[in-house]
Parts: sequence; C-alpha cells; structure tokens
Amino acid sequence: MQRNLLITGGAGFIGSHVVRRMVEKYPDYRIVNLDKLTYAGNLSNLQDIEEYPNYVFERADICDIETLRAIFRRYQIDGVIHLAAESHVDRSIADPFTFARTNVLGTLALLQAAKEYWNGDWNGKRFYHISTDEVYGALPLGGEFFTEQTKYDPHSPYSASKASSDHFVRAFHDTYGLPTIITNCSNNYGPYQFPEKLIPLFIDNIRNRKPLPVYGRGENIRDWLYVEDHARAIDLIFHKGKIAESYNIGGCNEWRNIDLVKLLISTTDRILGNPEGTSESLITYVADRAGHDLRYAIDARKLREELGWSPSVQFEEGLEKTVKWYLENGNWLDDITSGRYLNYYEERYKR
Ligand code: NAD
Ligand code: TYD
Repeated sequence: MQRNLLITGGAGFIGSHVVRRMVEKYPDYRIVNLDKLTYAGNLSNLQDIEEYPNYVFERADICDIETLRAIFRRYQIDGVIHLAAESHVDRSIADPFTFARTNVLGTLALLQAAKEYWNGDWNGKRFYHISTDEVYGALPLGGEFFTEQTKYDPHSPYSASKASSDHFVRAFHDTYGLPTIITNCSNNYGPYQFPEKLIPLFIDNIRNRKPLPVYGRGENIRDWLYVEDHARAIDLIFHKGKIAESYNIGGCNEWRNIDLVKLLISTTDRILGNPEGTSESLITYVADRAGHDLRYAIDARKLREELGWSPSVQFEEGLEKTVKWYLENGNWLDDITSGRYLNYYEERYKR
C-alpha cells in the first residue's frame, strides 16, 4: 500500500533510526522527515539514506502551523509519527519555556494541522505520538512498575511538557475523533545519541580523558532499551496498534547509574586496549540534578501480549555495539563538539 508518512524529529537520535527503518523497509511509502534542526538535529545521521527516492527532508518548526498546513497538503499526509521535541531534562531545568513551546504548543499545532487536513475522514489515518515513561513520575526502590494505568505525576519541566502533550493528543481523540496512539518508552541508548545524554557523553569523555560527572551518589535507576528495539516497536504499533490506546515500551533492564557507568568504563577500556579499571579514576561525583527521579521501570506486558513485541538486544551486547560505534565514529562526536555538524544542512541541501 502507498502511504505518505510525516515523521517529525527525524534528524534526532530516535527519529533517525525510525526514518531509516521506514525508508528502507517500505519503498512504497513516501517518508517526509520534518525537523527544525535545533542543536539536537543532525542530518548527517541520515547520510546513508538521504538520496533514496522515497525520502524527503523539510526543515520546519512544528510550532509554525501555516507551514504544517502546507506540508500536509503538498505531500497528502495520511500518517504521522511525532518525535520532534526538546528532550534533555537538564536543559528543561535551565530553560523550561522552550520545552513548553515545542513540546506542548508544537504538538498542539501538529494535531490541529492533521485534524484540519483530514477533516473528519479518518479512514486509514493515524496520528502516533512518541512519549516517555517520565510522565509517570518516579518509582520507589523495589518491585513496582509503570503500567498504562499509572497516574501521570511528572516532576521535571521536560516530563511536565511531555505529559501535557500526551493530554492534548488524548483530548484530540476524545473531542474530535482524531485517530491517535501514544507510546511511553523508557531510556534509549545506541548510535547517534547526542553526547549530552549519559551514555554517549561518558564514552566521549572516556576517550578524551575527561571527568565523568555522576549526579548525586549514582543511585538513580533507569530502564535501558536499545534504540533499534524502540524503532521496531514504533513500526509495529504504527501499523498494528489500536486507535485511542497507549502502550508502554521498556527494556525490562534496570540499572543503577553507578553500576552502568562502571560497566561502560570496563567495556570502553577493554575495546580501547586499556588495562582493566584505567578510567575509573575519571568518575567524579557532582551535585545532584534538581528533582532527580529515583527510579523508572516499565511493565511492557500489554505490548508483548497484544502485539507480540519484546526487546531483542540484550544489554551487554547492545552496550558493546554502542561503545564500538562511538569509538569507530569519533569524527561524528568531534563534529558535534566543534559545532561543524551545524553546517551539514547548508553544505548538502543548499548547494
Ligand atoms: P533528540 O533531542 O535527539 O531529537 C529531537 C529532534 O527534534 C531533533 O532533531 C530536533 O532538531 C527536533 N526538534 C526539536 N524542536 C523542534 C521543533 N520545534 N520543530 C521541529 N523539530 C524540532 O530526541 P530523542 O532522544 O530522539 O527523542 C525523540 C522523542 O522520543 C522525543 O519526543 C522524546 O520525548 C521521546 N523519548 C525519548 C527517549 C530517550 O531515551 N531519548 C525515551 C522515551 C521517549
Ligand atoms: P539522561 O541520559 O540525561 O536521561 P534521563 O534524565 O532522561 O533519564 O540521564 C540518565 C541518568 O544519568 C539520570 O539518572 C541522570 C544521570 N546523569 C548523570 O549522573 N550524569 C550526567 O552527566 C548525565 C547527563 C546524566
């Protein structure tokens, strides 16, 4: 079947994996990647597929509803996978307004543009919103998990903005009948993640012999999922998920930050050929993040039982692949640190 699929945030970390998967797997689809190219957008992430005939890039801000309307018309969009967002908790603490603007108002503009263009003809249409488990707040230590029924209780400006966007998506289904789906996923890791997030930042710092800033005592717990497992879940849910439902996606893979950091250090040292423990001295305990959520852990039973998805990449294997990728692609990291990556769009697309 032919489809015209709008993917927002495709130049970012998870978005680039989703775009690549869709472009390669569905040659009959036209994949329109809409991205503002903020500091987090890096079109070189998609260099290998940018010449594919079923791929189009549009530089646009999701808050600009006039441009969204034009793009829906120009490409006759019949499906949306919405990933564009401000995504880093520390930045949201420093600058909450940018998060409210993009994550809340941008999502609202996209919902409105889809609703207007589809104009009540919902047949075959889909608006799929990608969200986070952070909307559920924090879990105590122990055996409790986030389910789809867990009450929203966001604590950071990032998670508050994502929670608000989720509510708008549900409101557009309940009020106007827009065919929406939401998924709430745990922490992702893998290639092409911006080196402000824990795993790529620490790999970059190890290779440059820089301190590894562990917040607080390193006792916070996250549930880690390999990014390609997330992209596979998104593909499945976009095609088979039930309208108006939400699904949790998680790795069933909880790690205390300090234990993860030690595994990351030993993996990186081994691959670099350093003696065991070489980089442990780089660990530096720093002031804790304000409002730092203690623990996230997903119960992904619904997705497994209803759609047959489960994570396929075991953590040690995924981490090994990830470390190797960053070490082999040191120029990708260096281009970000030096700011060179910001020229990619002008150099490749504006010739
Ligand atoms: P990212 O920061 O790597 O990428 C975000 C992308 O959105 C960038 O390409 C950026 O240029 C674009 N963007 C930002 N503001 C925009 C705007 N106003 N208009 C158009 N484009 C804009 O983020 P990510 O880690 O890939 O996360 C993608 C989505 O998945 C987000 O919605 C995030 O909340 C969600 N999510 C992320 C994780 C994770 O672990 N990274 C986990 C669960 C859910
Ligand atoms: P991060 O990758 O920012 O993802 P999130 O805040 O969305 O979970 O952080 C993962 C965990 O690592 C989180 O508990 C905060 C911690 N952390 C550090 O200890 N040091 C750091 O430099 C960073 C970026 C994160």
